[in-house]
Amino acid sequence: MAPLFLPVALSFLARSVLASPVAIVTGTALPPNIAQQAGGGLPNQPGTPKISANAINSFHLANFLENLESYFFQEGLMNYTRWGTGEQVNGVSNMAVVSRIAAQEEVHVASIVGLLEGNGAPAVAPCQYDFPITDETSFLALASIITNVGIGALQDLADGLSTTDPGLEATVASILPVESRHDAFFRLFAQEVPNPTAFETRISGIWAFNLALDFIIPGSCQGLPSFITSLPIFPDLGIIGYGGPSFATPNSPGKLIFQVGQPNMLPQGWNSGPLYMAWVNQDNVPAYTPVTVQGNELHADVQPGMFGVAYAALTNQNTATNINDLTKATLAGPLPVPLGS
Ligand SMILES: *[C@@H]1O[C@H](CO)[C@@H](O)[C@H](O)[C@H]1NC(C)=O
Repeated sequence: MAPLFLPVALSFLARSVLASPVAIVTGTALPPNIAQQAGGGLPNQPGTPKISANAINSFHLANFLENLESYFFQEGLMNYTRWGTGEQVNGVSNMAVVSRIAAQEEVHVASIVGLLEGNGAPAVAPCQYDFPITDETSFLALASIITNVGIGALQDLADGLSTTDPGLEATVASILPVESRHDAFFRLFAQEVPNPTAFETRISGIWAFNLALDFIIPGSCQGLPSFITSLPIFPDLGIIGYGGPSFATPNSPGKLIFQVGQPNMLPQGWNSGPLYMAWVNQDNVPAYTPVTVQGNELHADVQPGMFGVAYAALTNQNTATNINDLTKATLAGPLPVPLGS
């Protein structure tokens, strides 16, 4: 039987790659040509909006996540000098699109840094990163995953701001579709439908933080705000028997075998009751499929009827009806599962 899924066992991949530290590129000052390359520079509205303490925490996390994204695209862009410029569609090469994406991410970082510093809060310094990329195809597949994680985290950011800083929601809303345009390009490259879903999938900031950790060289982050260092860290969830980043065939239900990357990080008594795989996709309430444990293996059915990128997480409850409650009940993961169109 043909594989139903080719999900990305991100965590296992990332940690199995030998680290080769790379130069840090900070986003605090925009190089002169970036505005041209990005299709526009920082917004020229005068002054900095005053933001709440809650928003400072949220934008610190956004800065942390966008640093990774920005670095990923800058490094990928440099790699095009070895990969060649890639396919041309309508006279525009893949490298030209990635160049614009990299610049746009730099502008996003700079605008977040400007907002933080304008409110007397320090910027978040970049860490050192390590990505499991071997060629243009794996770069653009992982680009899709990283972009979807960013999209999910931006939705969470907008929701958090809606109570404390509603004036900033529109700014976040102006970034979100830019990220979705990026993903449409990555999906087309993989011969997937560029617009797979009616809704984007929101995740929690804590989940996004955990997903980012997969690409951060341990111990390489300096002076992170305590809001970030106090976020919970879950053990990784991986899927046994799947390779590098790629897309899957249509969303057929099937059984997958999961494994927890660092079982010693699981809390005491984690398997004393029933276990579930939680599935998060679009604006739906989390779905749950039962998990059976066989040694190190966790067997679970895939929730049918999901599209785009779904997220799986190991949990010992099946009653959480929103992403924040599910995050509190997460035992391992999350794991992004890209579904074919
Ligand atoms: C760039 O290429 C290097 C060497 O192949 C690789 O280790 C790294 O992961 C690549 N990074 C990206 C973002 O493509």
